Amino acid sequence: MRKKITVVGAGNVGATCAQRLAERGYADIVLVDIIEGMPQGKALDILESGPVVGFDSNVIGTNSYEETADSDIAVITSGVPRKPGMSRDDLVLTNMKIVKEVTQKLVKKSPNCIIIVVSNPLDAMAQLALKVSGFPRQRVIGMSGILDTARFRTFLAMELKVSVEDVAAYVLGGHGDTMIPLTKMATVGGVPVTEVLPKNKIDKIVERTVKGGGEIVALLKTGSAFYAPSAGVVQMVDAIVQDKKQILPCAAYLDGEYGVKGVFVGVPVKLGKDGIEEIVKIKLTPEEKKALKKSADAVRELIDIMKI
Ligand code: APR
Repeated sequence: MRKKITVVGAGNVGATCAQRLAERGYADIVLVDIIEGMPQGKALDILESGPVVGFDSNVIGTNSYEETADSDIAVITSGVPRKPGMSRDDLVLTNMKIVKEVTQKLVKKSPNCIIIVVSNPLDAMAQLALKVSGFPRQRVIGMSGILDTARFRTFLAMELKVSVEDVAAYVLGGHGDTMIPLTKMATVGGVPVTEVLPKNKIDKIVERTVKGGGEIVALLKTGSAFYAPSAGVVQMVDAIVQDKKQILPCAAYLDGEYGVKGVFVGVPVKLGKDGIEEIVKIKLTPEEKKALKKSADAVRELIDIMKI
């Protein structure tokens, strides 16, 4: 039997997620939004691409949660995106109301689902979803590290003029200005990038990565990134649905790992059918450890603002 995946928010990120997931063919998709007719229209449009693309997934759009019952995975993308000049953190008070309401409604109908949070500010919204759902931490995961890492890999590959597939890297920490691209672990064809690129070039790439979301917002002017974010979601869903045990950078609730307790932050995790099956520990330099702590502190500030 096909899995069932609910995507809440049928805007840019949500609708693109629904399209990418439907094309996988392994799950039926329910697309939810508060705007009447919009999720229904987009779902039907995606469904009608099935005969051409070649998938049999059912795709429905709705304004209620009845149709979401017994979902295996729920992706939360509802919320406002940033405008030029805004930081992700500026969205906290608006998006917290939306994410709280959506999580409550989702878990009532799908008490055993795995939640993937995409709404920003990412780490704080994941923390809110964990609290509101009452789920174990294995089943609430934030999508951010895959996106930040994809940006880092893209810029490294552009500079090195090699395939993106030859560049391996990790970006850890919060999804914001305090994220930590791990330059020492970045490799091209297995060779550390620090051996093939001068420090000033790497520093520029790191800076562009950290500001990668803002670069897109400044260009789009009316919204934020959605093609790469939705691709990140699908990589996580693939790992869960196919029980891949894949190690991916995701936002996870830490309980002492990496010296961080009681807060979401981006770390490598093993994703499989149960969600986060392990928080993978990699050796960080003292500076990286310090940066991760700073990142966790920044997330804590938002949690204080939300008073959760
Ligand atoms: N329930 C369901 N959907 C909602 C709700 C709600 N309570 N409130 C808002 N929405 C819907 C909006 O109607 C809109 O269709 O969420 C959708 C958001 O879509 P966009 O405005 O296109 O935003 P998008 O680019 O998809 O970003 C969504 O993901 O990357 C993050 O920062 C981004 O927080 C933002 C989120």
